[in-house]
Amino acid sequence: MSRLDPYEVKKNFKILQQKINDEPLIYLDNAATTQKPQQVLDAINHYYKWENANVHRGVHTLAERATSSYEKARAKVRKFLNASDTSEIIFTRGTTTSLNMVAQSFGEAFLKAKDEIVISVMEHHANIIPWQELAKRKGLTLKYIELKNGELDVKMAQNLITDKTKIVSLTHISNVLGVENPVKELIDYAHNKGAIFVLDAAQSLPHQRIDVQALDVDFLAFSGHKMLGPTGIGVLFGKRKFLEVMEPVEFGGEMIDFVYRNTSTLKELPWKFEAGTPNIAGAIGLDAAIQYLQRHDFDAIKAHEKELVEYLFPKLQAINSLMLYGPEEMSKHTGILSFNIDGLHPHDVATALDMQGIAVRAGHLCAQPLIKNLNVSALVRASFYIYNTKKDCEKLVDAIIAVKEFFSHGPI
Ligand SMILES: Cc1ncc(COP(=O)(O)O)c(C=O)c1O
Repeated sequence: MSRLDPYEVKKNFKILQQKINDEPLIYLDNAATTQKPQQVLDAINHYYKWENANVHRGVHTLAERATSSYEKARAKVRKFLNASDTSEIIFTRGTTTSLNMVAQSFGEAFLKAKDEIVISVMEHHANIIPWQELAKRKGLTLKYIELKNGELDVKMAQNLITDKTKIVSLTHISNVLGVENPVKELIDYAHNKGAIFVLDAAQSLPHQRIDVQALDVDFLAFSGHKMLGPTGIGVLFGKRKFLEVMEPVEFGGEMIDFVYRNTSTLKELPWKFEAGTPNIAGAIGLDAAIQYLQRHDFDAIKAHEKELVEYLFPKLQAINSLMLYGPEEMSKHTGILSFNIDGLHPHDVATALDMQGIAVRAGHLCAQPLIKNLNVSALVRASFYIYNTKKDCEKLVDAIIAVKEFFSHGPI
């Protein structure tokens, strides 16, 4: 494994070379969205400059170029996930749309009153609300796995997943706690009980290799923008045997073969799920993002992020009145660290850090049940990616100390 050099990586990201509030930008909001390397911007630019046309319908040269690039992107995603066929790769707007599609299509067709869905208290709203809505519509029971010592209570998960469970839908890595869930173990457990398993990989796929066949996961959702790709593009992977019997949730052009006055026939997979003109430039940008990530080897990416967390974690722990969330053991944290400072509102902390050029997230982080469970109203979150350095960590620590100092003498 070759080491990742974040300074080399940074050279591909012009946006990171600017100053914010007269300070060099330190971007630590990667769990919300990542920056895009020049290679991704160039791929999108190239498409619009030389290939722009609608896909699948045209016979002219540009239409063929656009179609070929769009379908090449699908083939890239297939290989990236090690899915067995491109028919299992559906382009969507992102994780949220992908999860909604499973709830609306699979859930609507195959679940009946009193069936159970198991999720966890650490889910992003995107993996809660689609199930809540489905449960309301169909009279289902939604059950939550709670936390134990800052991580998923696996014993409780095993108690909750029973013969009544039809769907287990969990995040792979919490966007708040940064903790990784033992999903392979839980997928096997769910399958033994006859349930299907939906994996929210929004926070994991950008940072680690995922093999959908080795995991044996039934559905997997992710967003391009959290892995160096553009916004508005994501993927739903689904096992073919399920996708084949599922109904589309959107209808219109692109997804039909023949339309008669009162009925229509649908295209085959995956196109039956892609109604309307798709995000062609988005798919091409995602292709370029995957290509860029693959240049760096996922073991090296993971090792780099681990190194940053191991460097930063004790420094944050040492700050008086700073409270870190998630497991106490440092080894259980991936590149997401959430914290609060006693007596300071997270939004004030984030604003004060921004004044020093540091971009972090503050708020409920789209995980209100978890935030409530942690007994707070909001958190500050620093999240890392391949272009972050130990120097960024040092600056964060210095800036937090300065923020504390400022507020202790300041106007409040
Ligand atoms: C764990 C998790 N799931 C789902 C989402 C939703 O992703 P998107 O807004 O790209 O659909 C996010 C975004 O932060 C996330 O962190």
